Amino acid sequence: MYELLKKDGEARRGRLHTVHGVIETPVFMNVGTVAAIKGAVSTDDLRQIGTQVELSNTYHLHVRPGDKIVRQLGGLHKFMSWDRPILTDSGGFQVFSLAGLRKIKEEGVYFQSHIDGHKIFMGPEESMQIQSNLGSTIAMAFDECPSSVAKKDYIEQSVARTTRWLARCKEEMERLNSLSDTINPHQLLFGINQGGIYEDIRIRHADEIRQMDLSGYAIGGLAVGESHEDMYRILDAVVPHLPQDKPIYLMGVGTPANILEAVDRGVDFFDCVYPSRNGRHGHVYTKQGKRNLFNAKYELDDRPIEEGCGCPACRSYSRAYIRHLLKAKEMLGMRLCVLHNLYFYNHLMEEIREAIEQGTYKEFKKRTLEGMLSQGK
Ligand code: GUN
Ligand code: ZN
Repeated sequence: MYELLKKDGEARRGRLHTVHGVIETPVFMNVGTVAAIKGAVSTDDLRQIGTQVELSNTYHLHVRPGDKIVRQLGGLHKFMSWDRPILTDSGGFQVFSLAGLRKIKEEGVYFQSHIDGHKIFMGPEESMQIQSNLGSTIAMAFDECPSSVAKKDYIEQSVARTTRWLARCKEEMERLNSLSDTINPHQLLFGINQGGIYEDIRIRHADEIRQMDLSGYAIGGLAVGESHEDMYRILDAVVPHLPQDKPIYLMGVGTPANILEAVDRGVDFFDCVYPSRNGRHGHVYTKQGKRNLFNAKYELDDRPIEEGCGCPACRSYSRAYIRHLLKAKEMLGMRLCVLHNLYFYNHLMEEIREAIEQGTYKEFKKRTLEGMLSQGK
């Protein structure tokens, strides 16, 4: 299912075959938490800007509109009119970062909805059932992402429970995939490595979960407040302990620089809210670093956000016009910035793939990082 096409150092050029089409890796997934990319971005837009995988959240769609409703409407692909791959995060992380009062037990997590406070229980089986109702291409295992300041002995207990949860996820996913009325009977399950910033816990956990023969392996619990050096140290330690014939996904990461570094350490999948969130605030990515279009220096600047960029914003509009839209609080301003940023990330991944194919990844990384620090005008 995962085809490793080429290695350049640790960087990997691969291909994941799914029922919703092929995913060329390394890939950046575009985040649409509630089955919508924030900034009024449609699935037609996604097709235009080179999006390969859309990412949505189990927890959010369970709370609203309800996964059973999505199922009745034919599944998430049909609901949002996107026939390419979709990855759903399991709810684990969102429950821990969003929900009100919560209690973690062996069976799962009791918590309150962030919308209306009603009581919800979610465990591994419930998360798999919700993701099966959504019918995503790739389902994520239900995990606990411990706080970045949690004590080592808490993380050890938590990781042991996450491993027990993973066995339950796998069993439930196999059962759901075998039912005759399943939306996507080929739904893939990715496991999630945890262990905070402790290499020994991470490695032990990776060695345990690699035995379970899943379709892919994620590294969770990073980019939650630790330093970039800690994140890279953990990647250096853990990636060699994950199966090399399966895709590796670094969850919630990150800046273009983080992605360039993680690809160099063998990571294949990424997702992050930065391009859409920053775009909504008028912050746009370029090869010379990030620009804030609210800055007065763009008032009379009739150049596109980035010269040579093929995105829908740069093909037609100037920095000065988009700045005006943003200041006038016109929705189009936000939308154009988000489209540019997502295109920028998708295009960066395309360049990364090409550089690996050509065996020039290290030079590409160095040149790109230097360019982004240059803050050119
Ligand atoms: N998104 C970012 N980090 C995590 C994590 O540790 N677990 C899950 N499920 N999702 C994430
Ligand atoms: Zn652009």
